[in-house]
Amino acid sequence: MKKILVLSSSPRRGGNSDLLCDQFVQGAQEAGHAVEKIFLRDRHIGYCTGCYTCVKTQGICAQKDDMSEILEKILQADVLVLGTPVYFYCMSAQLKTVIDRCVARYTQIQNKEAYLIAAAGENDRKAFDGTITAFRGYLDCLENVREAGMVLAQGVPLKGEVAHTAYMQQAYELGRNA
Ligand SMILES: Cc1cc2nc3c(=O)[nH]c(=O)nc-3n(C[C@H](O)[C@H](O)[C@H](O)COP(=O)(O)O)c2cc1C
Repeated sequence: MKKILVLSSSPRRGGNSDLLCDQFVQGAQEAGHAVEKIFLRDRHIGYCTGCYTCVKTQGICAQKDDMSEILEKILQADVLVLGTPVYFYCMSAQLKTVIDRCVARYTQIQNKEAYLIAAAGENDRKAFDGTITAFRGYLDCLENVREAGMVLAQGVPLKGEVAHTAYMQQAYELGRNA
């Protein structure tokens, strides 16, 4: 049994990446894993200010918001799933904000598998290039955090329309085999 943390970063609850996150969750639960999904819009997470208080305090951020709890969950997880819409050819600001706030304890984020779930309006694989680069850049900064898979749902501009595509099954299978 693995501990799986899913961070769903679209502001659209029930939107495309969020639905794909749910599919992953369902598959992973059926496989017997302990899964938690956090819908970031429900949380208060400030931007990293680059103050480096965390360096002086060995990992305690100056900001008192929901990120300390989320960071603890990231540290505890065996598997991280990052769900995002493609916004201007990159990940959402919500997800990037969480990634930036990891700076407080990023050297401790180790030995995990990571998945990317992304949805884009355009029907072109290239629409994901920036998001994939940002995802891999995050992983490159972490010790032994391995890219384990991706669901890249293209051609789904409208909220929830991914429900009628084969990406749903793909996300389910990825969770099932996590
Ligand atoms: C601010 C904003 C920027 C967007 N930028 C892009 C883009 O660069 N490329 C693209 O293919 N789609 C873009 N889209 C469309 C979304 O990627 C698309 O609606 C997707 O389904 C959103 O995923 P969600 O339902 O998980 O929020 C953009 C949408 C918004 C609101």
